[in-house]
Amino acid sequence: MNREAEIALEVSGVTKRFVKGEKLHWPWRRSGNGRKPIVAVDNVSFRVQRGEVFGILGPNGSGKSTLVRCIATLLIPDEGTITVFGHDVLREEMAVKRLINRVSVEASFFKKLTPMENLLYGARLYGLGAKEARRRILEILTRLGLKREDAFRPMEEMSRGMQQKVAIARAFLTQPILLLLDEPTTGLDPRSKREVQAFVRELRDTHDATILLTTHDMQEADVLCDRVAILDEGRIVALDTPEGLKAQVSRADAGEMTLEDVFMELTGKRLREEEVG
Ligand SMILES: Nc1ncnc2c1ncn2[C@@H]1O[C@H](COP(=O)(O)OP(=O)(O)OP(=O)(O)O)[C@@H](O)[C@H]1O
Ligand SMILES: [Mg+2]
Repeated sequence: MNREAEIALEVSGVTKRFVKGEKLHWPWRRSGNGRKPIVAVDNVSFRVQRGEVFGILGPNGSGKSTLVRCIATLLIPDEGTITVFGHDVLREEMAVKRLINRVSVEASFFKKLTPMENLLYGARLYGLGAKEARRRILEILTRLGLKREDAFRPMEEMSRGMQQKVAIARAFLTQPILLLLDEPTTGLDPRSKREVQAFVRELRDTHDATILLTTHDMQEADVLCDRVAILDEGRIVALDTPEGLKAQVSRADAGEMTLEDVFMELTGKRLREEEVG
């Protein structure tokens, strides 16, 4: 099979709505209750090629995490289909789970245990031998800028950024074929951000990984992604290479465009930057 043309991920016409308070059960209220649902993801379609780094760029609440959760089989879309290497996320959930790994800021760990213990636990679930796993865990953690001794301190003593790096390490440990990174660098200091970005680039270049990442950070999307979809209120408003996106909105009178300009031009909005530094 021609590797170039292999589709790692296909999202087709996906819509996900939330009804506020849907989880609560109010027997005295009629279902629906006349409330308008929030359309978190609105008829989204795109394809990601094997080996690609695909970015989803959008402001807070634009539907990025919801979309990632649908791909990760954690939420069921109301409409549309998603396939991962040809496997349908609903009908072949287990096959999809084996092919993906999701990293998000709300990563769960055993907080009393150390990163090493947490990661060894994760490695065992994926059938990695303990000796090999230990070596790889230390290699990845130090590669991400954690000190060796940090691998042996309880997670609860670590900063959010450090915990995030452990979450990233966990995802890379098992070499998933499709990696879903939900804001991998949000909340990291500039240096840690560069370390994580360099690591993602290295993976793209040297491993057989396909990466879907979400970000608020225009610069990150620009340097890391082969193609970027701009999401606004659940809808894709543009999808192209960073260069292509800039070319779409460039004007003769303007100087060099950034993705920030592209976003403002397409949505009339400014992206809210939340990152530290
Ligand atoms: N479980 C839920 N129940 C109800 N509404 C939800 C739920 N999850 C998300 N939403 C709503 O869906 C919309 C999209 O949220 P989502 O978390 O996907 O955005 P996001 O792009 O990831 O934002 P951020 O940049 O802040 O992480 C928001 O309006 C949000 O309030
Ligand atoms: Mg989110």
